[in-house]
Amino acid sequence: MDLVPFHIGGIAIDPPLALAPMAEVTDTYYRSLIKELGGVGLVVSEFISAEGLTRANRRSHQMLTFSEAERPVSIQIYGGNPDRMDDAAAIVEEQGIDIVDINMGCPVKKIVGSGAGSALLKDFDRASSIVEKICRRVKIPVTVKVRKGWESDDVLPLLKRFEEIGVAAIAIHGRTRNDCYSGASDWDYIAGVKRELRIPVFGNGDVKTPEDAVRMFQTTGVDGVMIGRAALHNPFIFRDIIAHVSGHVVEDETDRRIEAMMRYLRKIDTAPQIDKWKLHKARTVIGWFSKGIPNAKNLRTGLNDITSIDDVLRLLDQTLERAVA
Ligand SMILES: Cc1cc2nc3c(=O)[nH]c(=O)nc-3n(C[C@H](O)[C@H](O)[C@H](O)COP(=O)(O)O)c2cc1C
Repeated sequence: MDLVPFHIGGIAIDPPLALAPMAEVTDTYYRSLIKELGGVGLVVSEFISAEGLTRANRRSHQMLTFSEAERPVSIQIYGGNPDRMDDAAAIVEEQGIDIVDINMGCPVKKIVGSGAGSALLKDFDRASSIVEKICRRVKIPVTVKVRKGWESDDVLPLLKRFEEIGVAAIAIHGRTRNDCYSGASDWDYIAGVKRELRIPVFGNGDVKTPEDAVRMFQTTGVDGVMIGRAALHNPFIFRDIIAHVSGHVVEDETDRRIEAMMRYLRKIDTAPQIDKWKLHKARTVIGWFSKGIPNAKNLRTGLNDITSIDDVLRLLDQTLERAVA
């Protein structure tokens, strides 16, 4: 099959594959890594609090950091208050970001309790009012990421309202809020949404392999495929999809994984955050990327003794030498 690029507003999404927003994961360092490894047409930030942005919270503003190499880049915001949300969207636009995305999928109690995330799927009027205010306020394309409903699959009428208001694209995760992550993402529902909307649709949920991505395109007709968790364990997933559709063999070699870890570490080493944060990130990301490689256990045990990013890089060098020997 061919991967057909499409546009969100005037922005080309080429290839039509997106890195999903993931809290504590898809910051500028992770997004840049995925972009450099190749095959991704859009990267989306972790969700950022509209309250934080509009109340000048330092951490929220730090989360707006991006690099030119990430473009096109989308920043996702969340909140339940239409006035704060449109101010937050304006702040995002001022940073020179390409797309602003609105979170209507987060199932976490604390977020839902504040009327944000998937709570908006229970209140179509408030959800529409947020989207309407933002669309009127900013010139950059506005997108929304939703689940298929709160407790049943009933989000479609809301999506039609969004389309009328002027939303440029939507991403749909085929689970309800109550499903959280249980069961399977409902690709039939995603297919129905795609059939009913004129704006571009990203399908999301349970794409774990290049074969899954092709199956999602073919069975749902979506314009784009958005991938989250699979990119945690295999940061090459997007590149592998491109290789797969062009008929190349996809190999999962140990050395390319280790090199990806090193590349990531060098990025976080330049971050303004404190060492404790950097070491936490290093341990987490190595934990994900090392899944399935030989000697991963030695590597993970070695992480107990690290006190600097240089220590981690040395440890990875040793693992790489052993893998190549
Ligand atoms: C660690 C983690 C953090 C997430 N954070 C966000 C978020 O900030 N915003 C959002 O819209 N979805 C978030 N999600 C949901 C993903 O974007 C995606 O919808 C979900 O994981 C299903 O896709 P997948 O099967 O490809 O992982 C998160 C998921 C994970 C695993």
